[in-house]
Amino acid sequence: MKRFRRLRSGEPIRRLVRETHIDKSDLIYPIFIEEGENIKTPVDSMPGIFRWSIDRLDEILLSVENSKIGGILVFGIPKHKDERGSSAYDKNGITQRAVRYIKSKYPDILIIADVCLCEYTSHGHCGLVCNGEILNDETLPLLAKMAVSLAESGADIIAPSDMMDGRVAYIRKALDESGHVNTPILSYSAKFASGYYSPFRDAADSAPAFSDRKTYQMDYANGREAMGEIAEDISEGADMIMVKPALAYLDLVRMAREKFDLPLAVYNVSGEYAMVKAAAAMGYIDEKKIVLENITAMKRAGADIIITYHALDVCGWLDEEKGGI
Ligand code: PBG
Ligand code: ZN
Repeated sequence: MKRFRRLRSGEPIRRLVRETHIDKSDLIYPIFIEEGENIKTPVDSMPGIFRWSIDRLDEILLSVENSKIGGILVFGIPKHKDERGSSAYDKNGITQRAVRYIKSKYPDILIIADVCLCEYTSHGHCGLVCNGEILNDETLPLLAKMAVSLAESGADIIAPSDMMDGRVAYIRKALDESGHVNTPILSYSAKFASGYYSPFRDAADSAPAFSDRKTYQMDYANGREAMGEIAEDISEGADMIMVKPALAYLDLVRMAREKFDLPLAVYNVSGEYAMVKAAAAMGYIDEKKIVLENITAMKRAGADIIITYHALDVCGWLDEEKGGI
């Protein structure tokens, strides 16, 4: 009989033989930034998450700086929305101003800028709309303008999340031509049309006003197609790739890990966060145990980078565990 239990007899030996570890630097924390003053509004469906105005941001940025996590992902929520999402690529748009502020005051915080129109369009879609159709090629220049203006404002990494075809190549070219040859692209390559995004859409005021996102985000039944999306993004110049959401898609994280050598991110999305928080609030589960198990599973599946609303809590729990997990 093989005695597997020999290596499980206590925490020191379990730690010695543990195959997967979480580093604080693996974690990326999303932050919602709203136009206006003196705002710290809780997001109802995401307990512990707030919408911040720039003048109140220090509170959360100091926690981020002290936590030693890998970086932040910024989402701007503008006051002005129109059909073309013009505040997405306005030099003085909320996201541009926020990025400039963060970069000037916290130069050591790595800033990833989400590039997509849905928070900025009156119709809430990720691209331009004409007769109820979401236009692909006509959207690309706007995404490129947004990417360049965010790089100009100080974003360290550009992360397109719109799922238009050809956007990585288009954005790469625009970044290069505007002198941002060294700004990497983290592409939301395999992003699925998912029910798990609904708390985010409340948080960012970005729910589509009609129809859904199924003509551009992927069908969750399709794994092989996801590998095709990732391969295409790499050939278009993506520096890092992503699978989103995380937990129901760990098979694809593993598949992508085996097929591609680029740094691989997963997005542990708002609905995944909301479910854990709700069950924990009811006393049905132990939040710390569940979150550490989930995050470890994402890494074990092959993720290098984990975008999660739990990031700051995870750091605190890793400190509690001393040697880490
Ligand atoms: C913007 C965007 C979304 C998310 C990240 N970027 C929303 C969407 O596609 O509807 C979802 C993140 C989350 O649910 O936590 N396109
Ligand atoms: Zn979008």
